[in-house]
Amino acid sequence: MDFWPSLGFKGNPYVVKPLPGSEDGRELLVGRDVELRSLLRRIRESDMHVVLEGPNGVGKTSLVSVATWVASEDFKRGRSRQLYLPLPEPLQVKEDAEEFVSSCYFGIARAFLEHEKTLKNAGRSVPRTKDLNLWLNSPVLRARGGGINSPFGGFTGSAGIAANTSQGYTQAGFRAAVKRWLGDAFPEGSGGFVGLIDNLELIDVSSEAQRVMEEIRDPVLQLPGTRWVICGARGIARSVAATPRMNGVLSDPIDISPVPDSYIPQLIEARLRHYSVGDSSSAPVSARAFEHIYEVSHQNLRDSLSYSQDFSFVLEPEFFLENEAEEIESATRKWLAELAMKYERDIRLQPRMWRLLDDLARIGGACSPSDHQDLGFSDRTHMRKNVVDLERFGLVTSSREEADQRRRSIEMTSKGWLVYYSRSQGLINPTIPGLLPE
Ligand SMILES: Nc1ncnc2c1ncn2[C@@H]1O[C@H](COP(=O)(O)OP(=O)(O)OP(=O)(O)O)[C@@H](O)[C@H]1O
Ligand SMILES: [Mg+2]
Repeated sequence: MDFWPSLGFKGNPYVVKPLPGSEDGRELLVGRDVELRSLLRRIRESDMHVVLEGPNGVGKTSLVSVATWVASEDFKRGRSRQLYLPLPEPLQVKEDAEEFVSSCYFGIARAFLEHEKTLKNAGRSVPRTKDLNLWLNSPVLRARGGGINSPFGGFTGSAGIAANTSQGYTQAGFRAAVKRWLGDAFPEGSGGFVGLIDNLELIDVSSEAQRVMEEIRDPVLQLPGTRWVICGARGIARSVAATPRMNGVLSDPIDISPVPDSYIPQLIEARLRHYSVGDSSSAPVSARAFEHIYEVSHQNLRDSLSYSQDFSFVLEPEFFLENEAEEIESATRKWLAELAMKYERDIRLQPRMWRLLDDLARIGGACSPSDHQDLGFSDRTHMRKNVVDLERFGLVTSSREEADQRRRSIEMTSKGWLVYYSRSQGLINPTIPGLLPE
């Protein structure tokens, strides 16, 4: 029998994918009422685009998907007169701004097709499907419009397909048409497509992210009938929102902090319930064990879920079926401690680098290059050298050549937190001074 069904689940309750924009996603989103309300209010009531800033794996993408779904449901159920609908998928920002603009327009064109019925039922004006398909399959638009897995002919993103000018499909023509369609479908204040511009931190350096966002400001961020939600980690979304050219275009960032510990049992129980087939499922990682993992990984929800999966698969289903909850929980704790010790053992660092990791953990796990003095370095270059080494072992992530010295661009990973756990608990080396628990 398959693993999860043998434990009484219809699927993997610890899935790490972002929550979907659907009834299921809404049911599984726990501990985010305040952020959900605040995001919805900004989508509906403000004429600026929304910026979300928060550490990796806290649930930004999930929150946006669910919020957009709630907005579309509210219209469907007559609770709101504004019709908001999601783009088919989140857009990953690209350094090539022109290419990124193209993916935004393709996303919008695809959204018109996907939501055609809903729009029509709502009495909104929609472009003709024939026109849309014509545009979407136009070679000239494909020339730089890459990165889209389109169901309309599979653009592969390979640049440089020759322009088919004989058919007259120019970029400018396509863009003007999209703008017109948006204006017709969504008259002022009546809703729009919600597009998620995700993972701004992938651009790494804030000046680059700022440049891309400034370049898309006029062609994308000024389009009618669209509300963009821009997500980023390690201070990059905040730093983009703060540039003068984004004044009045992007809102003040909403900070997305980790889901508070007090919600974690409820969050996991919601999943276990959702994925259970009958009333007697046997969870490999109980709510209590998950709380422990969440604490050790310093509240990284995504990584806690992925550790939970890893643990589930190291043992046979019989173990979970035949043992009491306490025994299973203590097996989880033991497994996590062993993983932390293994990580610590596999890492070779100079004492100064170890100290940096410990100090970083003590100040909460994130810092900016300008914090070098607080961390005991005479200058930034010296600290940078040590950070790079921690990064080599996956203990921190950081940005290269960051111009904004106050950006908290250096952040411990959950592996870093696990190693710190091993050190601070003295799991391998109980004599590390100053790190033993009181
Ligand atoms: N409020 C929540 N309730 C329950 N599960 C959640 C919640 N928020 C996020 N999750 C789960 O946590 C994991 C991480 O969420 P998500 O991918 O949305 O985070 P993220 O902040 O977008 O991460 P990244 O920085 O990697 O883009 C996913 O498995 C998601 O299903
Ligand atoms: Mg995300």
